[in-house]
Amino acid sequence: MALRALTGIKPTGEPHVGNWLGAIKPALALAASYETFYFIADYHALNAVYDAEALRKHTFSIAATYLAFGLDPERSVFYRQSEIPEVFELAWILACFTGKGLMNRAHSYKDSIAKNTEAGKDPDFNINMGLYTYPILMAADILMFSANVVPVGADQKQHVEFARDIAERINHNYKAELFTLPEPRIEEQVKTIVGLDGRKMSKSYDNTIPLFLDEKPLQKRINQIVTNSQEPAEPKDPDQSHIFSLHRLLLSDAEAQALRTKYQAGGMGWGQAKKEYFESLNALLKAPREEYRRLMADPAGLQSILAKGRDRARATASEFLHRIRTTIGIR
Ligand code: ADP
Ligand code: TRP
Repeated sequence: MALRALTGIKPTGEPHVGNWLGAIKPALALAASYETFYFIADYHALNAVYDAEALRKHTFSIAATYLAFGLDPERSVFYRQSEIPEVFELAWILACFTGKGLMNRAHSYKDSIAKNTEAGKDPDFNINMGLYTYPILMAADILMFSANVVPVGADQKQHVEFARDIAERINHNYKAELFTLPEPRIEEQVKTIVGLDGRKMSKSYDNTIPLFLDEKPLQKRINQIVTNSQEPAEPKDPDQSHIFSLHRLLLSDAEAQALRTKYQAGGMGWGQAKKEYFESLNALLKAPREEYRRLMADPAGLQSILAKGRDRARATASEFLHRIRTTIGIR
């Protein structure tokens, strides 16, 4: 039987180049060798997105993005988390086996506490229970579908380890292999894609290159990549250039080497380097951009794709949950 890969995508904003190369592309590549489950983690987004229209829009937008980059909904089970009620029941079961101390150790929760303390506020200021119990819902997402590997960004590694801990605890209690122990999988090479200013590309820093801009605004955005003040004629160090570090992600090793040599030879100005990056990127985004727009213009079509995924996911989930209930004495 093929191993299972599963990951959730939080619909919190406009998708950017960092999301594509850091999450979407590696996830889609896995579909060749794994049985894949991909879902929109809309209920995870609710702990921060309190605007109904924004949540709806981002949910569709993320779904359309994955499809536009080639997710095959026949091959992968592709669904919205909120449409699988069994996941929320499992989350409660898991919560009953999760130490409060484990949740206290979650990085995201600890960061929020630290920020509040630093600002002289109550440590729990603005922290809702959705944030606090976030890792339990995530464990339910993962354990429900017996995922073997979970492709995630480095910031999510701890959450996958929590899922493993909770699973082991329950397996041990009932002396049964109820839950498969998941492994996090972190794409090393593209771990941190830089943004326009050289920090990690992230919507929280407003330094992203959004994926589906028109050509003109895309070019304008690329022109904002920060450079030093070297003249066009001067040789440049590719390893010190944000343009190069973004551009090489689109190239084969041989092409990247050729571009490296070009920077080092001198005669390539920053304007030219940006133009070449724009051209490479735009060529790759052209077809997905059209497909994305087509999908976004047809919400009913998009919903029907997600409904098929929901039916497949629920078939697996309800059978699995039945087994868990029986084991724990609820049925
Ligand atoms: P943002 O930082 O813009 O809020 P998210 O946290 O929503 O982005 O990112 C979703 C996923 O996209 C992350 O888990 C990570 O795998 C990937 N990702 C986002 N930004 C980057 C980046 N700069 N480099 C590599 N991967 C990224
Ligand atoms: N917490 C993940 C993030 O913030 C999203 C997510 C929710 C997820 N459930 C998941 C990822 C299950 C992997 C597996 O990006």
